[in-house]
Amino acid sequence: MSLLIQNGIVVNDDFMVKADVLIENGTIREVGKDFPIPENTRVIDATNRLILPGGIDPHTHMQLPFMGQVAVDDFYAGTRAALAGGTTMIVDFVIPSKDSTPLEAYSLWRNWADPKVCCDYALSMAITTWNDKVAEEMQLLTTPEYGINSFKFFLAYKNVFMVRDGEFFQGLKQCAKIGALARVHAENGDVIAEKQQELLQLGVTGPEGHTQSRQEELEAEATNRACTLAGQANCPLYVVHVMSKGAAKAIAAHRQKGYVVFGEPIAAGLACDGRHYYNEDWSHAAAYVLSPPLSRDPNTPETLMDLLSCNQLNLTATDNCTFTCSQKRMGLNDFTKIPNGVNGVEDRMSVVWEKGVHAGKIDPMRFVAITSSTAARIFNMYPRKGRIQPGSDADLVVWNPNATRVISSKTHHHACDFNIFEGMEVHGVPEITICRGKVVWENGELNVDAGWGRFIPVAPNCDYVFGAVKARQKHLQPISVKRNLTSLDNNLIPPQS
Ligand code: URP
Ligand code: ZN
Ligand code: ZN
Ligand code: ZN
Repeated sequence: MSLLIQNGIVVNDDFMVKADVLIENGTIREVGKDFPIPENTRVIDATNRLILPGGIDPHTHMQLPFMGQVAVDDFYAGTRAALAGGTTMIVDFVIPSKDSTPLEAYSLWRNWADPKVCCDYALSMAITTWNDKVAEEMQLLTTPEYGINSFKFFLAYKNVFMVRDGEFFQGLKQCAKIGALARVHAENGDVIAEKQQELLQLGVTGPEGHTQSRQEELEAEATNRACTLAGQANCPLYVVHVMSKGAAKAIAAHRQKGYVVFGEPIAAGLACDGRHYYNEDWSHAAAYVLSPPLSRDPNTPETLMDLLSCNQLNLTATDNCTFTCSQKRMGLNDFTKIPNGVNGVEDRMSVVWEKGVHAGKIDPMRFVAITSSTAARIFNMYPRKGRIQPGSDADLVVWNPNATRVISSKTHHHACDFNIFEGMEVHGVPEITICRGKVVWENGELNVDAGWGRFIPVAPNCDYVFGAVKARQKHLQPISVKRNLTSLDNNLIPPQS
C-alpha cells in the first residue's frame, strides 16, 4: 500500500519546503506538489507538522554483555524504543571479548539482532585485541558479505576492552589502508585504574567515586592523544561520546588544523550533568554511571550544544546501554562494579530538539544534520538514509514542533526501570514514525514485529570521510635525501686496534 503525507514541511539538512511525500514499496517516490496519486493510497495530514528524515543513532549497545551483566534493552526492546522516539536506524557495536575474534563476534551479533530488530541497523566493530589475524579479519569485514566500514578502539576499560597505544596505532594504520573509519572511546584507562584503587582504599565506594576516578582531564588527554595518533596514521577519526569541554576543545583544535576528526556528543551529555553522582539516594546516583562520566561542570551540556551548532562537534548519538536498578546494584559496595551505561535512544530526538531548536541555538535543518544526515554521510549510507528525496528509503517522522511531553520511565518503551531524563518537559514530539514505508508508531502505539528491521551493509572508502585523507596521502610520501658519501668515506675513523 502506498502512503501520502500531505501539507507538511519537508526538512532536509540543506533546505525546508512545503511539499507532499509519496511512498511506495518502502521507498520515497515523489516529493513535491500535484503529482498523480495511486489508488488505495493512505493519506496522512501533516498540517503544522514537519516531515523529517528518521533519526539515525550511530552509537548503541543493545543486549551488550558488559561488567557481568547483559544490557536489558535487547535488539527488540531497544529498537522499539528507538521507533517510539522517531529514530528509524541504529548503528550498534559488536564488541568481541578478549578471547573471541571479530568474525566470531560478528556472527553472534547478527544472530542476536536479525530476528529481533524492529528498525534498520548497521554494525561497527570494536577491536579489543591486536594480532595479524585481527588485521586480516578487519579487511574481510569491510567486504560486501559483512558490510562493516568502521572500527572502534577503547583507550579505557583496562584488562577488558582496552588497547595500548602501539596496538591502537597499528589499528589506525590498518583502518587507513582498508578505507575504514576509526572510532575511539577516549579516556586514559591506566590512570583511571589507579585512581579507582586509591579512592576505594580511602573509603570512597559510592557512585561519586566513579566521577572522581575519571577526571575530565583524562578524557581530554586521551582525546588529544587519539587525534594526534590518527593524524600520524593519516586515518580519519570519530570520537564517540564526547562528554567534556576539554575533549571537545581537543577535537575542535585538531579540526582547525585540518585533521579529519568527528565528534559525537550524546543525549545524556546534552541534558544532564555530573552533580547526580553526589545524590544521597544510591540508586539515583548509580543510574547515571556511564563512561566517560557526565561532566560535573553544569555549563557543559550547553557548551556541547553550542559546538554542535557551529559544527565543531558533528552529530549526536546516545550510547544507549541500559541496566536495571537491580543490575546497577552489583556495585553497591564498590563503584567500579556498577555496570556502565544509560538510556537515550528513545528520547534523543526530543532532547536535541529541546536543547537545540527550542532553545534557539539551531534551525530544523541543522537538527536533521545532527540527528540523521551526518550519520548517514559518515557511514556511507547517504542518500539512501538521512534524506527525503525520491529513491531514498521511506524512513520518516511526522514531527510536531509545538507539542510537548514529559519524559518518564513510567511511559517509556525501554526495558529498564529508570530514565535519566525523568521529569524533563520537551517540545518536539514524534507523532508518526515510518520505517521503510510502514507506519510503525502512531497515536502513542507501536505497530511493528520483531525482525521488521533490516541489516544495512555499509561500504568502506566513503568519500565524505576519506576525500581529503586520500588527497593528503599523496603529499605524505617519505623524503629521502640523496648524498654523495665518497668524500666522507676517506675520513672514516680507523678501526681501534
Ligand atoms: O558507559 C558506557 N558508555 N557504556 C557503554 C560502553 C561504552 O563505553 O561505550
Ligand atoms: Zn565507550
Ligand atoms: Zn539527580
Ligand atoms: Zn558506547
